Amino acid sequence: MLLTTPTPHLLLGALALLAAAPLRAAPSAGCGQAPTLTGETAHTLTVHGQARRYFVKLPAGGGYDNTHAYKLIFTFHALGGSAAQVVAGTGGYLPWYGLPGLDAAAGEAAVYVAPDGVDRGWANAGGEDLAFVDALVAALEADLCIDDAHRYSTGFSYGAAMSYSIACARAKAFRAVAALSGGPISGCEGGGDPIAYYGQHGISDQMLPITMGRSMRDRFVKNNGCTAQSPQEPAKSSGTHIKTQYEGCDPAYPVTWVAFDGDHTPQPMDKGASNTFAANETWAFFSQFKQEQ
Ligand SMILES: *[C@@H]1O[C@H](CO)[C@@H](O)[C@H](O)[C@H]1NC(C)=O
Repeated sequence: MLLTTPTPHLLLGALALLAAAPLRAAPSAGCGQAPTLTGETAHTLTVHGQARRYFVKLPAGGGYDNTHAYKLIFTFHALGGSAAQVVAGTGGYLPWYGLPGLDAAAGEAAVYVAPDGVDRGWANAGGEDLAFVDALVAALEADLCIDDAHRYSTGFSYGAAMSYSIACARAKAFRAVAALSGGPISGCEGGGDPIAYYGQHGISDQMLPITMGRSMRDRFVKNNGCTAQSPQEPAKSSGTHIKTQYEGCDPAYPVTWVAFDGDHTPQPMDKGASNTFAANETWAFFSQFKQEQ
């Protein structure tokens, strides 16, 4: 008798899942359905008794195909900001952090979500913001065709803090995060799992000092098995940025660090440049993870 368990069919089912699961991303329940979360208008979800607002962006030009499982990218605003600003590209942000133009050019258009914080921030009191993220993932994947192995998060300042909080608490549910000039002010529940991590910070940040960005990065340098180092950072008034790709990491979980000569800004630019490097570097980091389809 090979199987002594009272429910051998369940065990066989579980074994079949285990055999199939590690390499196969699951298309979400929204695949094949007509989407309702269309238009860049406000939607709400009630979480912890509060109506929480968010905006969704589907691939431009009617390009959404409900048989294609898309990457899902969270874009969080900073303290005092709003999702509407992230959508419109006002208040210092590029629209959706400048990513949609780059993803379309690469033929990898993604689905974006911009949520609103409580009191214009991401204090994550009692875990309410992580609960909002969980509820958003469920709502979006019920309605839209999403690749559940390719969820991402980015944001500036408090939005970086929230992305870091996701990296700490939801490393198994998200593929990668990009934290732009953040601090650990949304908390770090768990914090022991590896996840691909991009950190970017100004050497003269007056709001959230670069020491915070370095220590957030170093959590994932350790978790991801990378070789610890003190990356070179640009000199003050050099007008440059320096990118370091950590070595020795588990290949599934890279860490990239960009230090720039500047203060607290979502759109740092090199001297003489007319565009930020932040969007390109974030997209370069996220787009290295290839979907199976
Ligand atoms: C970002 O990438 C775009 C598209 O490849 C390019 O045209 C632009 O010059 C880049 N911007 C910067 C600041 O590197």
